[in-house]
Amino acid sequence: MTHALNTPDSGKSSKALYGGTSSRRITVRDIAAAKQRGEKWPMLTAYDAMTASVFDEAGIPVMLVGDSMGNCHLGYDSTVPVTLDQVTMLSAAVVRGTKRALIVGDMPFGSYQEGAVQALRSATRLMKEAGVGAVKLEGGERSAHQIELLVNSGIPVMAHIGLTPQSVNAYGGYPVQGRGEEAAQQLLRDAKAVQDAGAFAVVLELVPAELSAEVTRILHIPTVGIGAGVECDAQVLVWTDMAGMTAGRLPRFVKQYARMREVLGDAAKAFAEDVVAGAYPAEEHSFH
Ligand code: KIV
Repeated sequence: MTHALNTPDSGKSSKALYGGTSSRRITVRDIAAAKQRGEKWPMLTAYDAMTASVFDEAGIPVMLVGDSMGNCHLGYDSTVPVTLDQVTMLSAAVVRGTKRALIVGDMPFGSYQEGAVQALRSATRLMKEAGVGAVKLEGGERSAHQIELLVNSGIPVMAHIGLTPQSVNAYGGYPVQGRGEEAAQQLLRDAKAVQDAGAFAVVLELVPAELSAEVTRILHIPTVGIGAGVECDAQVLVWTDMAGMTAGRLPRFVKQYARMREVLGDAAKAFAEDVVAGAYPAEEHSFH
């Protein structure tokens, strides 16, 4: 498949998700059209209005208010403790901070596992109270009922298969998925199940590149890769990983595009040293 190149200046297609000229909010129809055009697109997580506004101005077309907020924003060591109240509050902030991006609210652990009716109640809350344009939930065949009811109720759903971090306690870690014939067949069944249930896109997390290339070829909905190789239609990263804000060791699939942790630490130290030395506030910062 050939992919159109769309940098903000290239002006190749006014409809492009990244680099296009349309300033209205992106919808799931635009996402479907991008797959038809064979266009690749980027997605980032966001958890607050200010950071989201930076990504919106940078042209990121889809933002996920991920339950990765557990690790990256709320100080937990997994996504499991994150609540629907927390996702709703932060999703509302991200919606307020953006004008163009499609905002996807993540359904946290415990907000849809009971069944389709519970999923509908939780997703409805995210749409009504936070104003998200779509929701995401984890699971392939096992979540197809939930996806079907949400889609039939007018709620666009992004599915998430491969490694599903809410199952960390069942996995006992974060292993690569889909390795071996049986696991690969299960992943293919999961991908088809979420497409058949009506999902508009599917995240493939920690899946061998060859397998996600096959899924991307077979599906008519876009695949969004994270640790799933270059052939996916879109790529997502957790913003704190992408920008070098996360402390400690990062997964191998992460590429750091900045050193935000160092920049922020240096700014805090420079401020502290000025205060201790009596160099801040200076005359121009003072009122008389
Ligand atoms: O919660 C999250 O940030 C996610 C992405 C990693 C896809 O689910």
